[in-house]
Amino acid sequence: MSTTPERSQSSSPVLHAGADGETSGASATSENDSDLDSTLRAGPIRNICCVGAGYVGGPTAAVIAFKNPHIKVTVVDKDQNRIRRWNSRHPPIYEPGLGEMVRVSRDGLPASKQDKKPVQQPNLFFSTDVSRCISDADIVIIAVNTPTKSRGAGAGSATDMTAFEAVTAEVVQHARLGAIIVEKSTVPCRTAELVEDMVSTHRPGAHFEILSNPEFLAAGTAVQDLLRPDRVIIGSASTPEGRSAAESLAKVYAAWVDRSKILTINLFSSELAKLVANSMLAQRLSSINSISAICEATGAEIREVATSIGTDTRIGEKFLRAGIGFGGSCFKKDVLSLVYLAESLGLKEVGEFWRQVVIMNEYQRNRFTCRVIKCLNNTLVNKKVTILGYAFKKNTSDTRDSPALEIVKTLLEENPREIAIFDPCCNPLVIKGEIRALCGFGNALGDDGGAVKVYTNAYEACAASNAVLVVTEFDEFRNTKPSAPATQSKPFPAPATEVKQQQSFPDEEHFNPEPVCASDCPDCEIEKTTSVPVAVMKIYKPQEQLDWTRIAHGMRQPKWLFDGRCIIDAKEMTRLGIRVESIGSSGFSSVDTS
Ligand code: UGA
Repeated sequence: MSTTPERSQSSSPVLHAGADGETSGASATSENDSDLDSTLRAGPIRNICCVGAGYVGGPTAAVIAFKNPHIKVTVVDKDQNRIRRWNSRHPPIYEPGLGEMVRVSRDGLPASKQDKKPVQQPNLFFSTDVSRCISDADIVIIAVNTPTKSRGAGAGSATDMTAFEAVTAEVVQHARLGAIIVEKSTVPCRTAELVEDMVSTHRPGAHFEILSNPEFLAAGTAVQDLLRPDRVIIGSASTPEGRSAAESLAKVYAAWVDRSKILTINLFSSELAKLVANSMLAQRLSSINSISAICEATGAEIREVATSIGTDTRIGEKFLRAGIGFGGSCFKKDVLSLVYLAESLGLKEVGEFWRQVVIMNEYQRNRFTCRVIKCLNNTLVNKKVTILGYAFKKNTSDTRDSPALEIVKTLLEENPREIAIFDPCCNPLVIKGEIRALCGFGNALGDDGGAVKVYTNAYEACAASNAVLVVTEFDEFRNTKPSAPATQSKPFPAPATEVKQQQSFPDEEHFNPEPVCASDCPDCEIEKTTSVPVAVMKIYKPQEQLDWTRIAHGMRQPKWLFDGRCIIDAKEMTRLGIRVESIGSSGFSSVDTS
């Protein structure tokens, strides 16, 4: 089957091959590519197609479209439900600031009489017509899931390339000649060779420039990370055509990113850099978490240790908050991918070194849960335990690989009266769905006769509880003032306030109306039956901090609080009659209550 349009056989509207006719390819040479050859001509990009409408594709496409109103950006996905939701007032993911950005680029803006701004035409589209949109694009960005393989060779550490391979096959069959193919997904080092091989299999004789452009956005700050990146990495072949392709993509980013932050390097360095960046961050967390165990045993305070070492500019203060271990869809899988790479290269010691990062992470989570059970006299029978926070980090509704789920699983084995869960950002239906699917306890949920209940109100969740566990570091859960203001007029986390000012989004009444949902919209139906909208983005703003006096009042004696995120002031809690156990502190008995 070849649905490739005829015009694809003509010369590229994007790339102008080097005069010497040198062929390009994925072969990354050691030649220094860091400076783009300004003599290479990179044609204008008018159409970008992003394949994969998930956590990476959605926000990345939205920011590219927002910053490049002259470029048509289409996000495609074969998942009809996901695309329907992007095209509705129920986007499938919550990210601070993303809603406004999508509304401007997807729905356009009416002319503003006040500041005489002209009409802004829509330039962001979401579609299931995958092959057509690929064939229209000057740049095709592949942003699909690359999880860890769960079975077969390399299960548990190798990257599952099923989705990437399937999408790449479609891309190389339908892309117009001269289009640039961009690996945005996190992939093993040398994946560009796989792409090249697929070109020669599915499109013999054709040639596409392949770029690696890894993403560095984090859940909860995705828009901010995209708007103000530390760096943009573009890996290309070191041929004139490769560098020209890199320059074409660099120009897209240069619409808002300083040129000095756009690094062009060789393809394989770029692929590896992404894995190493995440692995180093994860390793840093496992390092500080390992020290937290020493603190608990010695009376040293992990927060003081972290502050003390973080002031050394060579170490730096970020990513030193000890906790119950890292979660999320990326760190574990990327460290394991690095382990697999090292092992498959015969570098056993290197693999073992990185594997220890994951082992330490699991140890840390289990240590926390064991401490809870031990403090509760090794039995949870007839006891209620409340979990505050289910997302893997604050300001996100992302629950993928959240430590909360593993903690719930372990606590359930102790046969408690109830495990209450409250999260200010996650949709309760999503939490329930995960517990049902992953707990493996049959009837774990209260709805099915089990012990787990999901609440939409923190006070109800904590009422008559024997122990409260702070599992996510939402500012609402603190008992001291957070370093940044918790309540803002728009759903941006504090550091994004600056970004908001730069963007000057219009007020609600100046947006074009959002698309109207069909009468049988399943998300509207869900909203009717739950108090939390499917698109939490519209209503979620960091809420008022919890009134811990009220919570303490409703708890059962002896009242326990287990701080898994180092955000609770134990002294304050002790005054309320609550015993506090914090990661990296030696426990309530050592707190000076005078
Ligand atoms: C991470 C990276 O930070 C991004 O740069 C990268 O693009 C992304 O993975 C990805 O590959 O997609 P993310 O997992 O979304 O982003 O979130 P992080 O902020 O890195 O947090 C990861 C985990 O570490 C969370 O569970 C968080 O609670 C934990 N963490 C973070 C700590 O326990 N302590 C800290 O000091 C910081």
